[in-house]
Amino acid sequence: MTHLIKLVLASLLAFSHCASALLAFPGAEGFGAQSTGGRGGSVYIIVVFAVGGLIKITSRIVVSSHVTIAGQTAPGQGITVYGNGISYSAASNTITRYIRFRMGKIGDSGKDGITIANGENMIFDHVSVSWGRDETFSINGDVSNITISDSIIAQGLETHSCGGLMQSTGGVSIIRTLYIDNQTRNPKVKGINEFVNNVVYNWGGGGGYIAGDSDGPSQANIMNNVFISGPSTTIHPFTRGNANFHTYVSNNYYDPDQDGTLNGFILSPTTENYSAVDFQSARYPYPTVANLLSPTDALAKVRASAGASKSRDSIDNYLINTELGSLGKVGALITDPTTAPINGPGTISGGTAPTDTDKDGIPDSYETAHGLNPNNAADAVAIASNGYMNIENYVNSLV
Ligand SMILES: *[C@@H]1O[C@H](CO)[C@@H](O)[C@H](O)[C@H]1NC(C)=O
Ligand SMILES: *[C@@H]1O[C@H](CO)[C@@H](O)[C@H](O)[C@H]1NC(C)=O
Ligand SMILES: *[C@@H]1O[C@H](CO)[C@@H](O)[C@H](O)[C@H]1NC(C)=O
Repeated sequence: MTHLIKLVLASLLAFSHCASALLAFPGAEGFGAQSTGGRGGSVYIIVVFAVGGLIKITSRIVVSSHVTIAGQTAPGQGITVYGNGISYSAASNTITRYIRFRMGKIGDSGKDGITIANGENMIFDHVSVSWGRDETFSINGDVSNITISDSIIAQGLETHSCGGLMQSTGGVSIIRTLYIDNQTRNPKVKGINEFVNNVVYNWGGGGGYIAGDSDGPSQANIMNNVFISGPSTTIHPFTRGNANFHTYVSNNYYDPDQDGTLNGFILSPTTENYSAVDFQSARYPYPTVANLLSPTDALAKVRASAGASKSRDSIDNYLINTELGSLGKVGALITDPTTAPINGPGTISGGTAPTDTDKDGIPDSYETAHGLNPNNAADAVAIASNGYMNIENYVNSLV
């Protein structure tokens, strides 16, 4: 393994909490937008990658609090973590961007690709996650203030084949994200949720956005999403729910006919198939998005930029272009991602590491251009005038 993973660790001595009012990164949205990631806590960790590639893991990665994983720093085709999945349970304040987590049959049976059983204040942005053996991205428990934005949640493996639960005590925002090729739970929701400008493609017989039947109350906004049936789809995108599921449902587009043309319609109360839920006439005052897209614009946006799209790998290209691009004709639920047409996690080109003389995670060229000292590793974690650490300004400048 030639990948250099640099951990920049420092104690938080001269650091004031005024920075907590900052967004996780410029443009962050949703319930998790104010996660401080590696900017908070008594120890902070920013993970940057000097070289791209495939990192094969056997044990699960467990992410602790106050961590920023900046996958966009990897040159070449970025980073794919292939293997037993990743847990954010019991963490708070994490920022995870531009990275792929692909689990597959080499992961443990019964485990999720990404799991959060408890914790708060996390944002996942431009993350591609696939091939969960239990669920692919699952939130289930005492969990609050989470955003999943501009991501791809794909190909939950048979026999469970799940996108994932989104069951929280506090808020979960799912924004401009693609759910593709999962039999069921795309997602299944309980608690507080906003589901805005997403695309759900080729769900199976379990359903697309499943309103969890629950003893406890749920409050959800389901706005301006796109649901496109594929070869595996046998049921309406909206299923289940009871009177405890309170929801504002607006401007969702459904193309059921699998004919390769975008010729669907906006769902109405008579075509929504949520017979038992409690419909709200006004949306809940959740964070939502700065720019609410029409469903068709959301589809274009997801195609252009969902997932670890700084450089898409063969899997995301296949899912976005061949499957979603077919508008209903191509798609499948899968059991083994190492066989055709997926053929495993592929090769990920490493690229060339930029020169970083002081090895603080910020290349010399950026340091020189921004008045930093390429021979002083301490300046990476210093706070710049805009409130972010210098290294955050560097990683945010990349995307
Ligand atoms: C969630 O975010 C809100 C708004 O920033 C904050 O008031 C609340 O304390 C957060 N909840 C948790 C569990 O951190
Ligand atoms: C509507 O949802 C119910 C479950 O709530 C499901 O049994 C039914 O098949 C769905 N209808 C259609 C047309 O898919
Ligand atoms: C998604 O889930 C379904 C149901 O378990 C499964 O049949 C299907 O193979 C899954 N899709 C993929 C692409 O794995």
